[in-house]
Amino acid sequence: MSPRLAFIGLGRMGLGISENILHHGDIDKPLVLYNRTMEKALDHSRRLGDCQVAESIPAAVSAADIVWLCLQDQEAVEEAFDQILTTDLHGKLFVDSSTTTPDTANSIARRVCDAGGEFVAAPVMGGPPMALTRSLICIASGPAGSVDRVRPYLNGVMCRKVVDLSGEDPGRGLLLKLMGNFLIMATMETVAEAHVFAEKSGIGIDNMNRLMSAVFPDPPHALYSRQMLTGEYHSGTPLVEVSKALTLMDEVLDLAHQCGASIKIYETAREHMQAAQELGGPNTDIAGVYGAVRVESGLPFWNTPE
Ligand SMILES: NC(=O)c1ccc[n+]([C@@H]2O[C@H](COP(=O)([O-])OP(=O)(O)OC[C@H]3O[C@@H](n4cnc5c(N)ncnc54)[C@H](OP(=O)(O)O)[C@@H]3O)[C@@H](O)[C@H]2O)c1
Repeated sequence: MSPRLAFIGLGRMGLGISENILHHGDIDKPLVLYNRTMEKALDHSRRLGDCQVAESIPAAVSAADIVWLCLQDQEAVEEAFDQILTTDLHGKLFVDSSTTTPDTANSIARRVCDAGGEFVAAPVMGGPPMALTRSLICIASGPAGSVDRVRPYLNGVMCRKVVDLSGEDPGRGLLLKLMGNFLIMATMETVAEAHVFAEKSGIGIDNMNRLMSAVFPDPPHALYSRQMLTGEYHSGTPLVEVSKALTLMDEVLDLAHQCGASIKIYETAREHMQAAQELGGPNTDIAGVYGAVRVESGLPFWNTPE
């Protein structure tokens, strides 16, 4: 028999992931939904059908064999597990796609296992549009048998590729995920500086775009260029707000300092992220590092898209 699944956290990422699990995963319907703001869960349930909205986290957990979470940050995850741990966890598997620190993931995994449950860390790379189109990259870590229970809902269901760390501590998956964030921010910093350099030198952003797409034919350079040059970083709905990114960036810097790694490009990106927050406000998208580099180079923060 297929397992019953509950999904907790219907934010920008959770909406897409839960929809794909419902439509493409082999689960015993209905899919149980819980969100702190219940209206969002009710809307999602009405739109998808085959769902049932739970009134509390313990109610969602009691109704499911597999409980998937995708919450804002580690405080939210810790609060959720404080409630989860008041229920009977025997036989239940928890899958967390939230971004937390490695220590938090390991500590939650220990608490869940001590209470008779299983825990798999499944943080993701890729934003809300990729969550909707099943194009995420998922890093799966935890006991091999537990990861095997989650595997039917990963590749081709909620993501397009799994970086498989089964058998390793959940914290190792989070460590790799935070290094993925390092790669993204370092690339975004490069793209932002390249475009400002092109504009200031007179060669122009169009020529820089042509060069970038010739040298790096695939995203992410093209994607970040679009977010910057179209002005999406200041006029669209943010995919990730600078205020949220700054907290995560500090965690990455702490991890790098703890192990003695020198990541200067990331420190520069952190400075530009801070400036983007000051110049554009906390809800500016992370591509606002472009605006910060522009200001440093004597240009206005807001660009004028063609
Ligand atoms: N956005 C991205 O591009 C992206 C990419 C990769 C990974 N991620 C990770 O995915 C996770 C979710 O991101 P998101 O963009 O979907 O965030 P989001 O849109 O801000 O949604 C956050 C979710 O967490 C819930 N929440 C927040 N605080 C809570 C609390 N104290 N108790 C219970 N629920 C709480 C929110 O409930 P309400 O609806 O009630 O506010 C909402 O469902 C994060 O860990 C993020 O780092 C995001």
